[in-house]
Amino acid sequence: MRFRVAGGIGRVLAVAAAVVAIAAVPSGRGVADDFGPVPSIKVDAKKAELGKRLFFDKRLSGDVALSCASCHVPEKGFADGRPLSKAYPGAEGFRNTPTLINAAHKAAWFHDGRLGTNLNDVTREMITETYIMNMDMRLMQERLKQDPVYLRMFKEAGYGEPSNGAVRKAIPEYLKTLTSRGAPFDTGALSDSAKQGFDLFTGKAGCASCHSGPRFTDDRPHNTGVPENPDIWGDPRRHLTFVTFAMFMGVENYMNVRRDLGAHVRSHKSDGSDIGKFMTPTLRELKQTAPYMHNGTFATLEEVVAFYDRGGGDDPNKDPQLKPLGLSREEQADLVAFLEALSGDALTGSDHVWSEKIPANYQAIENWVEVKN
Ligand code: HEC
Ligand code: HEC
Repeated sequence: MRFRVAGGIGRVLAVAAAVVAIAAVPSGRGVADDFGPVPSIKVDAKKAELGKRLFFDKRLSGDVALSCASCHVPEKGFADGRPLSKAYPGAEGFRNTPTLINAAHKAAWFHDGRLGTNLNDVTREMITETYIMNMDMRLMQERLKQDPVYLRMFKEAGYGEPSNGAVRKAIPEYLKTLTSRGAPFDTGALSDSAKQGFDLFTGKAGCASCHSGPRFTDDRPHNTGVPENPDIWGDPRRHLTFVTFAMFMGVENYMNVRRDLGAHVRSHKSDGSDIGKFMTPTLRELKQTAPYMHNGTFATLEEVVAFYDRGGGDDPNKDPQLKPLGLSREEQADLVAFLEALSGDALTGSDHVWSEKIPANYQAIENWVEVKN
């Protein structure tokens, strides 16, 4: 089933490899947005298989405590079910872990959109960032070379011997396999309530002006006035992580900042107009990825819809598109039913999950300092 709706915003992003089909159809009032299934991406099976094993391998983190899947959990839609993420042992995170389903379709990553190059760079960031996996990639490379399974898999994938560069290519190849499928919205199995919800979404409730295209996002930052999560400032382990991040991003007065500045950390606009803007997230797979927003402030979709019904939160920079909606209880329930219809099959089978045991403990080679690789 394909829906077309008039009156969307006129921004069509040219996404790498043109995998996202957002058709710009002229209409009376501007450009129409095309919703529909998220197209799958062609992958190299051997490289993706290697990327899958790496994704589930704790040896990619400094002290072998965390794999990518420790935070991006398949059973939780590749998010983690927590308001704020875990972090490297000893620290705690200050952002909600985003889903990785359809993340390969994006052109800018993280809640503030601060990385706009490619997934190769995002992967490096996750592995080397002190509060995420805290890994020196040279050490990682040596670890991988000790595992005969990797020696074979890197070779079969055409990469030669295990290397940092190949890890940063293989994991993105695996991420490309994580595409939504089977949502009632795409298969046509929509309840009457969900259909009403779609009409509200594209009409009276005005959601589609930001949540557009097959992933239901314009891939842009907006300020919706989501309240701060006090745990970031109340828990010293989270606050410390935030301060480290803010200092690294060159945030002015970072010791005294008591809010997540969002997109401001990359633009540093002097008028502060990017403060509190966060990237519009996808609305796919929400049933698996609660709680919601960049800081996990809302536990349920009912709470999110009630938030929009109030016209969003309080913020001087709030997007002027957000106004109180005056939705009835029934209309709010219809919107929730529609949002739920955007969730499809869980990606928890062997296509997407590495289920064989991965060795975590092994003996160091004698004289390892002198041994040449
Ligand atoms: C300790 C928890 C943790 C671990 C481990 C982790 N991530 Fe993340 N990941 C996060 C959080 C939190 C964010 C959001 C960060 C932000 O917005 O500043 C994120 C963001 C991402 C994004 C961007 C998603 C988007 O929509 O913008 C990708 C892609 C990603 N991680 C992939 C990975 C990969 C690949 C690994 C393993 C190499 C990994 N992550 C390991 C917590 C984690
Ligand atoms: C002005 C642009 C804009 C409009 C209009 C808008 N949203 Fe959003 N939406 C966002 C942004 C930006 C976020 C992320 C905010 C954050 O992380 O703090 C978001 C987050 C969400 C989330 C949470 C997703 C997640 O994974 O955390 C849901 C659900 C949602 N919006 C649904 C809606 C619905 C339903 C409407 C209409 C009633 C709507 N949005 C209208 C921009 C918008």
